[in-house]
Amino acid sequence: MYRALISLIFAAAHTAAVSAATVTYDWEVTWVWAAPDGVGRPVIGINNTWPCPVIEASVGDVVVVNLLNKLGNETTGLHFHGINQINSNYMDGSVGSSQCPLPPEYSISYSFTANQAGTYWYHSHNMGQYPDGFRGPLIIHNPQDPYLSDYDADIIVTISDWYHDQSPKLVAQMLQPNNTKFQPPRPNSVLVNEGSDGLIHIEPGKTYRFRFINFAAMTAAFVGFNALQMQIIMIDGTYVQKNIANQLHILAAQRYDVLIAIGSNGKQNYPYLVALDTNADYTAKNAQPPIAFHNNFTGQLVNDFDGNLEGKSAIEQFYPQVDNLLLPFDNQTAFGPVAKQWILNFDFCKDANGYPRACFNGKTFIDQKVPTLYSVVSLGDNNTETSAYGQVNAITIGYGDVLEIIINNHDSAIHPFHLHGHQFQIIERPKSNTGNWTRTKLVPDTPVRRDTVAVFANSYAVLRIKANNPGVFLFHCHIEWHVEMGLSATLIEAPERLVNYEIPQEFFDICKAQDIPTTGNAAGNDDWYNTEGFVTIDPTSYIGALYVDTETSSPTSTSSTSPSKATPSSPNKKQGKRIADSWLE
Ligand SMILES: *[C@@H]1O[C@H](CO)[C@@H](O)[C@H](O)[C@H]1NC(C)=O
Ligand SMILES: *[C@@H]1O[C@H](CO)[C@@H](O)[C@H](O)[C@H]1NC(C)=O
Ligand SMILES: *[C@@H]1O[C@H](CO)[C@@H](O)[C@H](O)[C@H]1NC(C)=O
Ligand SMILES: *[C@@H]1O[C@H](CO)[C@@H](O)[C@H](O)[C@H]1NC(C)=O
Ligand SMILES: *[C@@H]1O[C@H](CO)[C@@H](O)[C@H](O)[C@H]1NC(C)=O
Ligand SMILES: *[C@@H]1O[C@H](CO)[C@@H](O)[C@H](O)[C@H]1NC(C)=O
Ligand SMILES: *[C@@H]1O[C@H](CO)[C@@H](O)[C@H](O)[C@H]1NC(C)=O
Repeated sequence: MYRALISLIFAAAHTAAVSAATVTYDWEVTWVWAAPDGVGRPVIGINNTWPCPVIEASVGDVVVVNLLNKLGNETTGLHFHGINQINSNYMDGSVGSSQCPLPPEYSISYSFTANQAGTYWYHSHNMGQYPDGFRGPLIIHNPQDPYLSDYDADIIVTISDWYHDQSPKLVAQMLQPNNTKFQPPRPNSVLVNEGSDGLIHIEPGKTYRFRFINFAAMTAAFVGFNALQMQIIMIDGTYVQKNIANQLHILAAQRYDVLIAIGSNGKQNYPYLVALDTNADYTAKNAQPPIAFHNNFTGQLVNDFDGNLEGKSAIEQFYPQVDNLLLPFDNQTAFGPVAKQWILNFDFCKDANGYPRACFNGKTFIDQKVPTLYSVVSLGDNNTETSAYGQVNAITIGYGDVLEIIINNHDSAIHPFHLHGHQFQIIERPKSNTGNWTRTKLVPDTPVRRDTVAVFANSYAVLRIKANNPGVFLFHCHIEWHVEMGLSATLIEAPERLVNYEIPQEFFDICKAQDIPTTGNAAGNDDWYNTEGFVTIDPTSYIGALYVDTETSSPTSTSSTSPSKATPSSPNKKQGKRIADSWLE
């Protein structure tokens, strides 16, 4: 099965352009027993199967995912990473921000337009849930791909760190006052294509488009092929002018699309290395060894299955990341003039109970009762008052304005920062130990864009977006453990265009089923300035996405995202249409 999964070649990109279609997936989210690295554990899968299937569409298609929660004991939700959700912000799947958690026995229908080609992924965005397995590739093909004639076939390669314990337990252990060094959980192993043998069938004389996706909860990955060169053609859904690379450093949540040409002379196998690192500062001169690699994986591009499958690959020299020196294919110029700056200083911090948290400008992100988008929609003209949203580190920007985001990383490790709703321009991203941003020095003519940027240790990044996508979008570190520590902020884009924005009724129904208010400020108060009921400090016991039904048990947490009551007697399960061809067939 895993062999099929990785050697499957996508032909869709090479078929003639067809008119826009609706691609529908009917999914039941279920617990599945799996042993991707040899150690069995429960994982979250689809229809009693894991790995989760690939979502595949073409530019212009409407993607529909009918999601029914059959987990029984956990809530869930689905985020489509890198999909900007233009005119469909309520489909972003960010639990607590753009929707309520989806309780057991309920279903919702996600629907969005595949407006931009590229390599994306989907994952639960609910209480640290995706490291438990609920993630998969999302590929949007482009009949007008500028590089279409340069390759013969596509190959998806997903990379992930992997943990033998489930996420709620790992996070509960992390969020203890004695974790004074803010240590995240350490992975047990590395998965390539969710536990495949890493043997990828290739044919001599052909050129392949590899779509690398890092699913990790924490680690970055170096990827290298001993003898083969890569040509980068896309990063995070942005086509770039071709650039040669001998190795990639892919941070959690990032994607690289590269072309690899296989020599035409006879039978040969090519080893490749995936080496996970814990986002250490590999550029530091005196770091010995430069990076702590505990989880390496060697795979093979195979033309000769009877030949050598034991070849090794190593990376002798580590080159710093140069993604911000790539040039966008479309030559889009730097956004300007800047109307507003958003300066985010990241530090680890402690809350009033002495629990380890992560802070922007001294404030950790705390889940509130009402999803921020629902407050924005209901507060009328007062929706520009950021204090109405509670401690979600909110900022607003008016429609059409250019926002410059400055992130000062005060930690001695690299952090991958991700913005929902946009591929931001990387204006500056200097090397480690540059210190704090003071002013934006050099604005490139045509900055590259991506949706997740590596911000180096004790250094900063300057990013720009044009606020042309009304909605509520999270900005956060994509180390999932740091999200659970509170390393998130909220961009409220064009709130003036979100007054009375229409959200499908079934999204309100799932809130109602859990007694979660859907209007008013963060606590559901009609007066935006009434802070009564705001959650001002995180609960001391962490339960993750655990579903607590107060009719049979008492809640163990005051967390506002813990559902308090459910009425599973009236599930709103959808009638299913035939699901599109599965990744695993
Ligand atoms: C913190 O205390 C718990 C017991 O409450 C223990 O299991 C854990 O190992 C301790 N962690 C550290 C970092 O000392
Ligand atoms: C993993 O690979 C890297 C790069 O080749 C190497 O430096 C490191 O020693 C390897 N680690 C292990 C545990 O094999
Ligand atoms: C972008 O600029 C390059 C020169 O740097 C040029 O060769 C290319 O045709 C331009 N591409 C587009 C899409 O305008
Ligand atoms: C905005 O808040 C003020 C009180 O500060 C209130 O008088 C006004 O009615 C509110 N506007 C809307 C549209 O709710
Ligand atoms: C960066 O700014 C912070 C305050 O936000 C300060 O504590 C720190 O010392 C500064 N770092 C450097 C290298 O100047
Ligand atoms: C929910 O049930 C699954 C399957 O029995 C179990 O592995 C998992 O730990 C449970 N989740 C929580 C949060 O207790
Ligand atoms: C998943 O299960 C649903 C409900 O039984 C079914 O309609 C759908 O076709 C299944 N999808 C896959 C990928 O098996």
